[in-house]
Order: sequence, then structure tokens, then C-alpha cells
Amino acid sequence: MRLDDFKSKKKSHTKISMITCYDYPSACTIAESEIDCVLVGDSVAMTIHGHQSTIMATMDMMTLHTSAVARGLKKQFLVADLPFLCHRSSQVETIKNVRQLLQAGAHAIKIEGGDPDVCATIAHLVASGIPVMGHIGLTPQSVLQIGGYKVQGKNEQQAQELHQQALKLQAAGCFAIVLECVPSLVATSISKELEIPTIGIGAGPDTDGQVLVWHDLLGLQSDFNFRFVKRFVEGKNVLLSAINHYAHEVRHASFPAKEHTF
Ligand code: KIV
Repeated sequence: MRLDDFKSKKKSHTKISMITCYDYPSACTIAESEIDCVLVGDSVAMTIHGHQSTIMATMDMMTLHTSAVARGLKKQFLVADLPFLCHRSSQVETIKNVRQLLQAGAHAIKIEGGDPDVCATIAHLVASGIPVMGHIGLTPQSVLQIGGYKVQGKNEQQAQELHQQALKLQAAGCFAIVLECVPSLVATSISKELEIPTIGIGAGPDTDGQVLVWHDLLGLQSDFNFRFVKRFVEGKNVLLSAINHYAHEVRHASFPAKEHTF
């Protein structure tokens, strides 16, 4: 998967599959899969580090996890999130942060928001040769302002605003846009109007692609249960059963057996 493929997949109506990833062994598994695109999301702050929100993600955290994932992947396109406020202080600081993520192995970066400042930053980055993915709708870095993880664009005015933001992000040079937690009808009409692909999460079936968080898709956490999540396996139960099986065998001295012993 290369940058050009995002547009060509949209043209040929081929859906783009995207998944988050945060570590080397998981990236090695994805490398053998049919997934198109991988995101080192700032959700790493929650899924891996146990924080309550993505606000706790830092450049050091993103860089460490991006380089681990990049070492494991082969053919997938790798996007890394620019964490909370890391593109808001100055262009110099933004370029420094973006360089760090690209030098860690990302092929592109993702930035949350669609306000004029974000669009100007994205235009500057794109002019500097950096592929940028946009992210609008529910933008978790703004959770304190939004007042929770809520569906966005539910009334006509908000839907229009999202539409305008999507067009402006496209004009700024984004190669794709994540639409998070927006009504399916809104996502459909934005996806139809844009030339670049939309990647949905909680945005219905008509976006040009879908993204899910690794732990949600694999059923590895039971405390979050958003309606848009489908667990493709109950991974936590599978792991728990294997760990208890091991503990049982140790307790009963049936592990290690002859074949595991020198
Ligand atoms: O950080 C993340 O995992 C994300 C996805 C939910 C799109 O931004």
C-alpha cells in the first residue's frame, strides 16, 4: 500500500482496511495479514499505558511505539498520530515533531481537527512534502471541550460544519480523512463529495474505508464497549484461558514435561 493507492482505491470503490497497532509482535502479525494501513494511534495512551484519555500521549510515547511497529511491518502503509497540542505551538515545533515520527518509520501523520489553524498547519506540512491524514467528527484530543465521547454532527448545522471542514482539509492537501462517530448519513454525503477517501470509525458502512482499534477488534479489553465496535474474537477470554492453563500445569507439575526438558 502506497500513498497513491488511497486515491486509486477510492476511484475503484475498493474499501481500505485500517487497524491500530502499538508494538513489534503485533506488527509482525499484521505484516502477514491483508490489512492495508496501520495507525499508531494516540489511543496508545489508553490501550497500552492505561490512561483515561489520549491527552496523556506524548511525542516520546508516539515515537517509541511508531519505531517498534515500523520494524515489524512489511507492506502496509504506516500512519502515526501527532499527539495532543504537538502542532499548536509553532511551525518550527510542529516540523520537529513530524520529522521525529517520520524518522521513526511512519509514512504519514494524522492530525485531529478541522479548524482554520489546523488546515493552515496541514497545508504547510503538505507543501513541505509530508503526507497528512485528517481526523474530524469525534476528536478524542478535544474530549474535555466536547464533554465526553459523543456522536458528532447530529443536527443540520453541525453536519454542515463537518462537511465544510472535510472540504477544507481536502483543499489543504490531506490524502484521506478519518470520520469518527458521525451519523452514517453525514459520513455518506461527505464521502460522496470528497475526491480523497474517508476512513470511518462509528460512521456507518459507506465511508471509503474503516479503522478499528486493535484491542477492540480482538476483544482484549472489557471496560470499553462502544456500539460501533465489533469484536472479531473474544481475545481476552482466549488469553485468560491459556494463562490459567499454564498456571494449572505449573501447580500440578505437568509443565515442563519431558519434551520441554534438557
Ligand atoms: O488514536 C486512535 O486510535 C485513532 C483511531 C480511533 C482513528 O485516532
